[in-house]
Amino acid sequence: MIKIAPSILSADFSCLKTELEKIERSGADMVHLDIMDGHFVPPITIGAIVVNALRPHSKLLFDTHLMVSNPDSHIESFIEAGSDSITIHAEAATNLEASLARIRSLGARAGVSISPETDESVIINILDKVDMVLIMTVRPGYGGQKYIEGMEKKIRNVRDAANRLGLSLDIQVDGGINSETIKKVVTAGANVIVTGSAFFNSKDPAEFVSLLKGSV
Ligand code: DX5
Ligand code: ZN
Repeated sequence: MIKIAPSILSADFSCLKTELEKIERSGADMVHLDIMDGHFVPPITIGAIVVNALRPHSKLLFDTHLMVSNPDSHIESFIEAGSDSITIHAEAATNLEASLARIRSLGARAGVSISPETDESVIINILDKVDMVLIMTVRPGYGGQKYIEGMEKKIRNVRDAANRLGLSLDIQVDGGINSETIKKVVTAGANVIVTGSAFFNSKDPAEFVSLLKGSV
């Protein structure tokens, strides 16, 4: 079952409540929140105060992607603000296992992400400690980039490792996903699809979501 996670990074930030309703009506499964700190990645986006303001306006799962240098100091505030799932970057964590355990102990789903230049071997031995692996298919920081070819191999390796361990974890892909690139990532084993610019540029978001869900 493919789950679709539209990213509000490509939404109209002057009317986020309306944009959230668009996601809700489209039949998507969760809302992807891109949190950037101006340090781990150059831009700054939104903080927990905005997540908290959005929370009453959606019943969907809030899937929070922390692109921040010091994830430990932000985990709690985003969970308190209403994030259901927190994904941290392996490159940013000082003690990855401890941070993931903390996310779970605070009642949220724990995710770990790797940037395109990071080898999947760094997370293979902690797959039983996460609910989701996020494989970046562009360099984190900006929406609207082109899918980096070859990331399918990484997805396949993580899916194979999870299968060997008997784990049915979610594998999420993020960056440059559209109705064409989705085919190769799903074939490789991804089941949670982030879509930013393609979703918000589509004329009919509901039609786009069903196209993505039915495309493989
Ligand atoms: C990039 C973000 C993505 C981004 C995806 O750093 O993590 O979630 O919004 O946007 P598209 O789908 O336009 O590549
Ligand atoms: Zn993201």
